[in-house]
Amino acid sequence: MTDNQENTAAEDASPSGSPTSPPRPPSDRLPCHKSSVCSRSYFVVVMVFFHVYIINVIALLFYVHYSSGQEDASRSSDAPSGGQHQRSEPRRPPPSKPDFIRDVSLTRVEGIRVGHVQQVALVPGKVHEMRTLSLKPLLFEIPGFLSEDECRVVMQLAQLKGLMESQLMVQEGQEELAKELDLSPEEIFNLLDINQDGQLQLHEVLTHSRVRDGIWLTPENLREIYDGLKADKDGDGLLSLQEFRLLSSDAFQRFLLQRGVKRSQLVRNSRHTWLYQGKGAHQVLQKIKERVTRLTRLPSALVDLSEPLQVVRYEEGGHYHAHHDSGPVYPETACTHTRLAANTSTPFETSCRYITVLFYLNSVDGGGETAFPVADNRTYDEVSLIQNDVDLMDTRRNCDKSNLRVKPTKGMAVFWYNYLSDGRGWVGEQDEYALHGGCVVTSGTKWVANKWINVDPDYQRQARYQQLVSHLPDDENDDDLTLNADIQNPSIHQDL
Ligand code: OGA
Ligand code: CA
Ligand code: CA
Ligand code: FE2
Repeated sequence: MTDNQENTAAEDASPSGSPTSPPRPPSDRLPCHKSSVCSRSYFVVVMVFFHVYIINVIALLFYVHYSSGQEDASRSSDAPSGGQHQRSEPRRPPPSKPDFIRDVSLTRVEGIRVGHVQQVALVPGKVHEMRTLSLKPLLFEIPGFLSEDECRVVMQLAQLKGLMESQLMVQEGQEELAKELDLSPEEIFNLLDINQDGQLQLHEVLTHSRVRDGIWLTPENLREIYDGLKADKDGDGLLSLQEFRLLSSDAFQRFLLQRGVKRSQLVRNSRHTWLYQGKGAHQVLQKIKERVTRLTRLPSALVDLSEPLQVVRYEEGGHYHAHHDSGPVYPETACTHTRLAANTSTPFETSCRYITVLFYLNSVDGGGETAFPVADNRTYDEVSLIQNDVDLMDTRRNCDKSNLRVKPTKGMAVFWYNYLSDGRGWVGEQDEYALHGGCVVTSGTKWVANKWINVDPDYQRQARYQQLVSHLPDDENDDDLTLNADIQNPSIHQDL
């Protein structure tokens, strides 16, 4: 590039031209023409955009300022003190009734991600490792939660007390519900016909009637019933409305009862007993309860007022098909544990088991895993649990197809949340992904124990119940009933 060229270029770039050149009218200084981008209308448009931009920026600043102020307010009143459990939650509306102000949040242990390990201090002088197994449901395992001695004591105490059949051979009830609802055969048919093609496929019948009076139906059972009852007249493997109409409402049940039922055909094939863990109970049982309180970081009052410890024994061939430990809650649903404080009687009741802590009391020789068929599935769809006659809830056949299986290991505990959070620090909706079951024991015996922590999704009812129990003439209910989890559970969870 020559000097000359350089100068020319510099001159062209300079709006005012060279100092020696004669002054030009202002409009000529810019390299443009009146008719194009320099027109007045272009200027107006640019200015309008400029103003809108400035207004947007100011509005954004206001928004940021306002929303961070709100978050601070909710944090200072709601958040638990444990560092990693802190979470900004939406501000709570004022309590609808003045009687119990919601001053308690239920801590949820954070899963972070599958495989995440956190250290927990549950017993003096020992650190346990807690591994996240799934996020849906929020599920953890803690190896060595119970010592060998503790496992032995719990099994011995259960044996001393005696175990009963977990499921009686025949239970009443199903038919009565249908009668209560007073549905016509057409209405029932319509409910069963999921894809609305006017025919009942095997999986449609199974999805709704997998459990008949405690008897577990398989596709083969169903075909056998159709044959026995001559229900499928045209033999196409489907039930049409005409074929369905000819069946009485209790036809399946009567057929099964006449044919006889083996234990392996029940929903659950095990024996169990309950061990009280309150004051006066065996030291080991009380210690386990305290450890569970530390693990879950819930107020000890909640754990104290929960169901006793359930100890379960499966013999070889034992199983428990996939189920939820606790049902969905609707506004009309009552919780078994707070019925005392409920002023209404409702036809719906569930056990409101917010958390399940499952302990393995022995290592099983073969089988007996705890299966979570849909853990961390992308979606949950009840209908797709049976596909091509493969029933994912059937733990005698299809445990190998479950998303997650936990091998029973002596002393290990797993725990999970059966309900989601309501986003305000209390119990929300049922977590459908918490579906689980016990796979068939192929060799040896399997011993487990369940500690369920009962919480009523209705905060007022839970609070009323606790207040009621605290006024009973029982010195057990002293200041334990403070509902403040943070005072009772200092931060004991630590990231690795
Ligand atoms: C239960 C249960 C699983 C297992 O007792 O509710 O789900 O592995 N048990 O035994
Ligand atoms: Ca159909
Ligand atoms: Ca048919
Ligand atoms: Fe269960």
